[in-house]
Amino acid sequence: MVPEIKIRPAESGELEVLADLYEKLTRDQAAYDQAAKLQTNADFKTLVQGFLQSGNNKFFLAELDGKPAGFIRLNIYSGPNLEKVDPEAAKPPWKKFTPRRALRKILVLILDWLEKPLDTPMLFEQLRLGYIADMFVEAEARKKGLGTQLVQRALAWFKENKIDLVYLHALSGNQVGVSFWQKQGFSTYRLGLRKKI
Ligand SMILES: CC(C)(COP(=O)(O)OP(=O)(O)OC[C@H]1O[C@@H](n2cnc3c(N)ncnc32)[C@H](O)[C@@H]1OP(=O)(O)O)[C@@H](O)C(=O)NCCC(=O)NCCS
Repeated sequence: MVPEIKIRPAESGELEVLADLYEKLTRDQAAYDQAAKLQTNADFKTLVQGFLQSGNNKFFLAELDGKPAGFIRLNIYSGPNLEKVDPEAAKPPWKKFTPRRALRKILVLILDWLEKPLDTPMLFEQLRLGYIADMFVEAEARKKGLGTQLVQRALAWFKENKIDLVYLHALSGNQVGVSFWQKQGFSTYRLGLRKKI
């Protein structure tokens, strides 16, 4: 039987599904990085809730035969700043008002103002870029094309948002991930190096 694959935007109520996939992704990736030690009380629901509420993230879910089996998380950067991409989450500021938030906002404004004279000059033009922040397909759903379809949907969404350059990070030990991205037409433009001292 031909598997039925569907790609759709994730709904804000799908916190549990996304948190479950997120936990699997994190455990999977931690295995490629000897320096990564997962907290015993890592809270994936709160993490994903933060992503959804910020309005800075676009999630697409991949379904295999009607069941969620993968996701991709996307951002848009204008220079160093994240753009709001989810109008649902980007509620009018008065709906989000709390004294704590107001105080934090004031502090941030004061700090920004104090830091102004220290601004370094911009050497490069500030590009508007698409960023693939995370992507995961359940182990039993792999090699069926879900990953490819998620990426195609992501690239179409970036195009709709007038983006023509998309980047991501991959762990160098993740050979499957690196081969996957190469198959999607991505190539290495930067290397991260480190040394244990
Ligand atoms: C990487 C990942 C998203 C691929 O998802 P997928 O649904 O299996 O991908 P597809 O079926 O669309 O595969 C597309 C191509 O990727 C490459 N690929 C996928 N799995 C591969 C594997 N195990 N070994 C080598 N190449 C592989 C192949 O070129 C494949 O094309 P082919 O089927 O014509 O050979 C999935 O393996 C995954 O979730 N891995 C764990 C999380 C992860 O690494 N995320 C990326 C972080 S950078």
